[in-house]
Amino acid sequence: MPTLAVYPGSFDPLTNGHVDIILRGARLFDRIIVAILVNAEKAPLFSMEERVEITRAVFRTQANVEVDTFDGLLVDYVARRQAQVIVRGLRAVSDFEYEFQMALMNQRLNGSIETVFMMPAEQYTYISSRLIKEVFSLGGRVNGLVPDMVEARLRDKLAAHAGRK
Ligand code: PNS
Repeated sequence: MPTLAVYPGSFDPLTNGHVDIILRGARLFDRIIVAILVNAEKAPLFSMEERVEITRAVFRTQANVEVDTFDGLLVDYVARRQAQVIVRGLRAVSDFEYEFQMALMNQRLNGSIETVFMMPAEQYTYISSRLIKEVFSLGGRVNGLVPDMVEARLRDKLAAHAGRK
């Protein structure tokens, strides 16, 4: 039976750390679904449509990467998609506590779904969507840390914001 994995997250925005994990997952599993959580934050910087559009564009040549959205319980979505695995990235020890709690809660909710943790390449271990947004909004450079399309969209958003002032 082909192994189907779900990589859930907010992806606001997609970073090169996420891209690295998705490519690793696509090599390990027959198919990986990037599942973007609807309404994770009340005021996301990137709309759901933008996040889906960007992620689809970045992986357009990767036939076994699918992009989808979900709401409600992650384990219910995973079961509905008949996937067997949840993929999460682990960057540093600081991620561990939250990830451990989520993995055990998901295991309790549905014991037939396994969580698999994957490490990104070392150069991405300090990147997070939150830091990218903060650094960029304060004028810092984020090239090489996010896909070019994300950087371009960040620039558009900053210009639109400056235009409104
Ligand atoms: O990128 P994030 O914000 O760290 O992703 C968190 C995510 C989406 C994996 C988590 O919030 C989640 O699974 N939400 C769906 C609701 C749910 O199932 N909650 C219980 C998790 S134990």
